Amino acid sequence: MREKPLAIAQETNRYQVFQGDCLEVLSHLEPDTVDLVFADPPYNLSNDGFTCQSGRAVSVNKGDWDKSQGIELDFEFHKTWMAACKRVLKPGGSLWVSGTYHNIYACGFALQVLDFHWLNDICWYKPNASPNLSCRFFTASHETLLWARKSHKGKHTFNYKAMKFGQFPKDVLKKESKQMRSVWMIPTPPVSEKRHGKHPTQKPLSLLNRVVAASTNPGDVVIDPFMGSGTTGVAAIAQGRQFIGIEQDAEFCELAIARLKETASPPAET
Ligand SMILES: C[S@@+](CC[C@H](N)C(=O)[O-])C[C@H]1O[C@@H](n2cnc3c(N)ncnc32)[C@H](O)[C@@H]1O
Repeated sequence: MREKPLAIAQETNRYQVFQGDCLEVLSHLEPDTVDLVFADPPYNLSNDGFTCQSGRAVSVNKGDWDKSQGIELDFEFHKTWMAACKRVLKPGGSLWVSGTYHNIYACGFALQVLDFHWLNDICWYKPNASPNLSCRFFTASHETLLWARKSHKGKHTFNYKAMKFGQFPKDVLKKESKQMRSVWMIPTPPVSEKRHGKHPTQKPLSLLNRVVAASTNPGDVVIDPFMGSGTTGVAAIAQGRQFIGIEQDAEFCELAIARLKETASPPAET
């Protein structure tokens, strides 16, 4: 029998971090126990091309983990990890997936094949997205977030009032006391969120703060199977949710743990 993986860092009722393949770790978790999955899976875009960063041409490659295996195998991978997440979700639990056109259509199709119940697709608009070097097509300035419930029957959490009446001062698309719409304006992560180190696809905390506030309640269990630098965990812990993070890369785990520890026990103010 395979041994249950041990968390490499944890604080009771607040967070657990597992280093390893998410399929393996998820297979050891109890079914129907998780309230929310936020997944930011490989984009499958690291094809040796170029992009623009701070006015310079740089490789688009994020790492070996992001290489495409071809559309069929990429789709199989997305379907497999989503099925593993579906097993651990509670009946009313929900799943968010974030991505770009490189992977998001495969992910959307996998959600349909697995019979999830669609809730929304969100356009995360990045007002400070990098310019386009070739000047031969439009400048990519958004990512898509899919939100779906495990089953057609369960009742998912949506904190309608927190979204309608909450404060989102930097999002000029959100009008005060009006319903939250499906286009969110949030800049890429500021330098202050990278003080513990860099991850090539780190998400802004404001984005995860909104996801956690909208679709979970205090005490809920939130899992991120592709944890990276731990942004989902930082948002979850800061809002009193329990977090389980899974990441295969040792250095990214270290980075995430530093961020989670700081969030769980912030340094005293001087
Ligand atoms: C797009 S990044 C996630 C970034 C994260 N949302 C953040 O804010 O930092 C995807 C991460 O998944 C990890 N990864 C890729 N395949 C994995 C697998 N099978 N199991 C666990 N982690 C994996 C990669 O090492 C990478 O850090």
